[in-house]
Amino acid sequence: MSQQFPDDFLWGGAVAANQVEGAYLTDGKGLSTSDIQPHGIFGGVVERHPGDSGIKDVAIDFYHRFPEDIKLFAEMGFRCLRTSIAWTRIFPQGDESEPNEAGLAFYDRLFDEMANYGITPLITLSHYEMPYGLVKNYGGWGNRQTIAFFERYARTVFQRYQHKVKYWLTFNEINMSLHAPLTGVGLPEGSSKQAVYQAIHHQLVASAKAVKACHEIIPDAKIGNMLLGGLLYPLSSKPQDVMETLQQNREWLFFGDVQVRGHYPAYMQRFFADRGIAIDITAEDRAALQSTVDFISFSYYMTGCVTTDEALNQKARGNILDMVPNPHLESSDWGWQIDPQGIRILMNELYDRYQKPLFIVENGLGAVDKPEADGSINDDYRITYLNDHLVQVREAIADGVEVLGYTSWGPIDLVSASKAEFSKRYGFIYVDRDDQGNGSLERRRKKSFFWYREVIASNGASLKG
Ligand code: BG6
Repeated sequence: MSQQFPDDFLWGGAVAANQVEGAYLTDGKGLSTSDIQPHGIFGGVVERHPGDSGIKDVAIDFYHRFPEDIKLFAEMGFRCLRTSIAWTRIFPQGDESEPNEAGLAFYDRLFDEMANYGITPLITLSHYEMPYGLVKNYGGWGNRQTIAFFERYARTVFQRYQHKVKYWLTFNEINMSLHAPLTGVGLPEGSSKQAVYQAIHHQLVASAKAVKACHEIIPDAKIGNMLLGGLLYPLSSKPQDVMETLQQNREWLFFGDVQVRGHYPAYMQRFFADRGIAIDITAEDRAALQSTVDFISFSYYMTGCVTTDEALNQKARGNILDMVPNPHLESSDWGWQIDPQGIRILMNELYDRYQKPLFIVENGLGAVDKPEADGSINDDYRITYLNDHLVQVREAIADGVEVLGYTSWGPIDLVSASKAEFSKRYGFIYVDRDDQGNGSLERRRKKSFFWYREVIASNGASLKG
């Protein structure tokens, strides 16, 4: 009999401000990098004009409907909800000296509502967005000054919510900047590696400064980093493929290495030298980086393969993250390869490497849901996906990995990040809205809603397998 989930395991779900809140200019909010990408992070930039519209401008109107949604999460038994604060609600342009009180008050209302149901907030400081003002006027994270703007924002929200929020994350999927520089570090797509890594360096310093500030202001809080858990396997047992896989895994593990160990890993010296990249790292930066995270959080959706066979690599270009498909795995409707055992492998790898608690803060299946004639939604495919992954999480716990919790991605349907689609649904709760923005926004419980309620109520004992 495998070891079960710990009694205080934080079961729940995860959303992000820009994918649920809508109200994109309400109560003084400024434009963010998400707002100027209305077709998603891989959908291009659109200058916004008064009166125009985009699907995220309303999203699922969580800004106004959150009491109803929190109630539904509570009905499922959530112990935890991960969401983010929209930086632009607090500092609309990014460089103001005083925060926007209306924005701060919104999150007070949200956290109070969660507290009413005993739901623990897990809050990301920056989830795929930053003030567009900082991008336009300062060059985003390419500019050192952005570190101070971010620190002011982080300190402001730590002060304000110190009694309400005890779990924090710095930057969502911080390694994603390598694939989406505008979303990650506020640099134009196509920026040079030199520019992107310098911006990443500034962001890593800012992340460490936020860790320090959090520890000072909320001594009983825990703050983690957040990685896109992009585990790669060698496509073959050829030593060249194995070596290449090691190198490519390091490209994302690098972020964790800095955030957990407090300094750049030795292998990056060669990585930078081989590519002619020179990073400006000051003595003050090195000191700042020593403030390290308390836990490691990550998203997990899929794995991919690495090969040194150029023809196969060529074929894979344009796939998500350019990964070569694994011939042994099935794919989702969106071509994301489904690999439940991969989460156990990843958890063991991360725990072996860092010996810090893990928090699974995203995992889920994006799929098309077709309501039956009576309006019910029988999403057995989602139940199977989540069940199979959670069984492997349980295995990892039995392997000895320390895990704080699991928040499945998009417990309520939301706007997808990559292409801002609505038809790519992750939720236990269906939201009546389509890709064109039509629909009543009515919420409905899917079959998976009742399944997840049972998983939480039984602390995982109801899982099959
Ligand atoms: C993660 C992001 O990359 O994956 C989320 O942190 C995102 O914001 C999720 O929504 C799923 O991606 P997508 O494109 O299906 O929404």
